[in-house]
Amino acid sequence: MNIVVVGTGYVGLVTGVALAHIGHRVTCVDVDKEKVDCLRQGISPIYEPGIEPFMKENMDAGRLFFTTDGASAFREADVIYVAVGTPENEDGFADLTYLKQAVKDIAAAVTKDVIVVTKSTVPIGTNHEMKRMFAELAPHVRIEVVSNPEFLREGSAIHDTFHGDRIVIGADDERAASVVADIHRPFGIPIFHTDIRSAEMIKYASNAFLATKISFINEIANICEKVGADIEQVAAGMGMDARIGSSFLRAGIGYGGSCFPKDTKALAKIAANIDHHFELLKAVIEVNNKQQRKLIEKAKERFGRLAGKRVALLGLSFKPNTDDMREAASLVVARELLAEQATVVAYDPIAMGKAAHVLPKEVIYADRVEQALERADAAMILTEWDEFRQLDLSVYVKQMKTPIIFDGRNCYALDDVKTYAIEYYSIGRKSVK
Ligand SMILES: NC(=O)c1ccc[n+]([C@@H]2O[C@H](COP(=O)([O-])OP(=O)(O)OC[C@H]3O[C@@H](n4cnc5c(N)ncnc54)[C@H](O)[C@@H]3O)[C@@H](O)[C@H]2O)c1
Repeated sequence: MNIVVVGTGYVGLVTGVALAHIGHRVTCVDVDKEKVDCLRQGISPIYEPGIEPFMKENMDAGRLFFTTDGASAFREADVIYVAVGTPENEDGFADLTYLKQAVKDIAAAVTKDVIVVTKSTVPIGTNHEMKRMFAELAPHVRIEVVSNPEFLREGSAIHDTFHGDRIVIGADDERAASVVADIHRPFGIPIFHTDIRSAEMIKYASNAFLATKISFINEIANICEKVGADIEQVAAGMGMDARIGSSFLRAGIGYGGSCFPKDTKALAKIAANIDHHFELLKAVIEVNNKQQRKLIEKAKERFGRLAGKRVALLGLSFKPNTDDMREAASLVVARELLAEQATVVAYDPIAMGKAAHVLPKEVIYADRVEQALERADAAMILTEWDEFRQLDLSVYVKQMKTPIIFDGRNCYALDDVKTYAIEYYSIGRKSVK
């Protein structure tokens, strides 16, 4: 199979490398020349554990290529995967500009029949619209469109690609569906065949459901704080019920990233456009917006005013093991602290390069966690990197002016914290004073 993947971001790159690894010849196309130059040298423009050796292995084996020359790649392709971004636009809907451009680029280049597989998360009806565009722009060839939504998680994307729970293939055309199923068969993951609209909806509904679980447990955590229960105990007890399941029951300062925030808003918008007011999902979004500010609230309660306080921000990416800063809680927290006239000193093991482009310029960056904590009045843990979870708690005592920790990810056991002269505020648990 001659496969082309359009877009070499978090999804496209991992998809391309994984498809090459199971034996296909894969050409990854991107419009970003700098990215492609990097990739050709075996350097990944994104941080994803394990990706570089995996890329190199498949490049050396002559199965994986990178180019900006989409037209040549599309001409040779049997199957084209589209994995371009579908960010949020101003009204909260998915912005399909990149996707439509990819459709136009493909239509202008192809000279033989081809299957286009949509990995990008797109609103219900988009794949049919793509099919209509292809019929109009490339009437000389037959282009079948298949929806194949992606469920990988950044930070464990390679593992997820090889050990996912299901591969969803939404198609109107049986032959196209079976070609795509055959491509994915070596992964050994159950394949779920469905129609295109249902496949598109499965992606949004899955993300909305997971986001709901997160906002739900965060609300329970907020109540736990007030009634003296412990959210870790509550979540453990709930999770033992197989009907509930233990995943996505970790209380914290809410979800971020490139998917949940935009996909929940897009689904609420999709519903609103057909006069369905998705009240539950709107509440999930609202709860999350509040939850991202939770540590600021706690700090204000503790200090009164934050002006002049030196605050160490530990963790900037939206979750550990990624450098992705999209919709990270750190963006909200840093901005609010600066608005309160606090001094913000930030540290992240991986994401500081990307963070510097998106955080306010007043943020000071530290090279090491110890340096970030030096003379700090308070520390705020925003991302549960192992480096913080495993940090000897005496470091806080040694480095900080006052060892006061606001932990947005419940990194430490309360019994451990109690053995140090640390003031500790976490989510859904008793404070340690
Ligand atoms: N990131 C995730 O964890 C994740 C998980 C599941 C689904 N998704 C979905 O997958 C899609 C891609 O997400 P991402 O995070 O990989 O995006 P990304 O922004 O990291 O990457 C998109 C890439 O597409 C390239 N691009 C844009 N237009 C192009 C064109 N016309 N031709 C060639 N390249 C083009 C960009 O230069 C960029 O490198 C989105 O729809 C997203 O919602 C993402």
